[in-house]
Amino acid sequence: MAGPFSDITDTLFANKEVLNESYQPEAILERDQEIEEYRYALQDVLFGRDPENIMLYGKAGLGKTAVTTYMMNALSEEVEAREQADDLHIHKVNCNGKTLFIVVRTLVNQLLPEDASSFPKRGLGTGDAFGELYQQLDRIGGTHLFVFDEIDHLDEVDTLLYELPRARSNAHLTAARVGIIGISNNYTFRKSLSPKVKDTLMEDEISFSPYDATELRTILRDRAERAFVEEGWDRSALGMASAISAQDMGNARQAIDLLRVGGEVAERRDDSCVTDEHIETARELVQRGRLVNRIRDQTDHAQYILETIARLEERGDTPVRSKEVQERYEQVAQSWATSPLTSLKSIQDHLSDLHMLGFLRRNERNQGLNGGQYFEYQLDLDSALVLETREKIEG
Ligand SMILES: Nc1ncnc2c1ncn2[C@@H]1O[C@H](COP(=O)(O)OP(=O)(O)O)[C@@H](O)[C@H]1O
Ligand SMILES: [Mg+2]
Repeated sequence: MAGPFSDITDTLFANKEVLNESYQPEAILERDQEIEEYRYALQDVLFGRDPENIMLYGKAGLGKTAVTTYMMNALSEEVEAREQADDLHIHKVNCNGKTLFIVVRTLVNQLLPEDASSFPKRGLGTGDAFGELYQQLDRIGGTHLFVFDEIDHLDEVDTLLYELPRARSNAHLTAARVGIIGISNNYTFRKSLSPKVKDTLMEDEISFSPYDATELRTILRDRAERAFVEEGWDRSALGMASAISAQDMGNARQAIDLLRVGGEVAERRDDSCVTDEHIETARELVQRGRLVNRIRDQTDHAQYILETIARLEERGDTPVRSKEVQERYEQVAQSWATSPLTSLKSIQDHLSDLHMLGFLRRNERNQGLNGGQYFEYQLDLDSALVLETREKIEG
């Protein structure tokens, strides 16, 4: 008997992994300038000298992580072949959502000998963790490059950037040499550092600018050729995905996502080639996915208020004033077994936040001669989509 999968025989994808987030491209395209700067900043390592510290800046999806991985691999290979270079050890940590203690502890655990027990989670402090880190570094010796990705998310980053780069000059290290590579999505990161760190941290800066449509097209072409079967994509689909992403911050991650989702749409429709139309649908799906995440990020009560306005809108009862929102909101909150916020002021604060975040539209109204002013609200989104998302979140 034919099972549910038996008729799925063809696929548009020859190698879908190359469109995954975790895929590391062998070739980095359109980043010659950045690679040149990176090469120069890293060259001390080839001669057994203290590495420079390096900071990379640029918005999300501009290739900072991909270029760094590429450079680290290339440097490791080169060092192997060179006598003058010390042994090279590369340590990567993503700082997002981590405290400095966790970051240093993670590094220590990566460095400890295999049979050693790991650094305790409790009982010791960040200073102890640094002490252990230095001991391990000196035990191993050689050159150590620390890649701190999303370093702008680290709370006690001042301590890290004051301690680690100066460990050798402060005689915490004698055998090992260390260099820091920090990756930041935020251009103002340096400004936020303490004066002490700003004065002592000598670093090379490499900044990544947004890709334009032509550059994105080159990157996509390379991926499409490997991801899809022959004649599985058409040129204008690539043009479209590149143009959309170029307009929206020049983000290569987004461009690749559009291509992957576009391929999935085409495959689901049994089409033999990815076209503009599939990319257009992919754009809607990707946007919808993003909206769902943004709604999910709101507090429960903000979501109840959004849901309230969506319900009012479905009945044709918008725009509404905050007082009317409050009455209906109380029912909505109760329907989710939550006691509602009681003051009108707190409802108004949520409404104004939701307006600022682009979920709501707001009109100012005047009430008669001396009635003063008030606001009326309505959704700036599709009400059905909001209700559907709310169901999904609560379900
Ligand atoms: N110049 C490039 N050549 C090839 N692929 C790239 C390039 N720049 C970015 N990518 C790809 O785009 C996606 C996002 O890049 P990533 O390095 O993660 O960005 P960032 O770290 O700046 O947020 C990854 O899948 C990466 O492989
Ligand atoms: Mg990154």
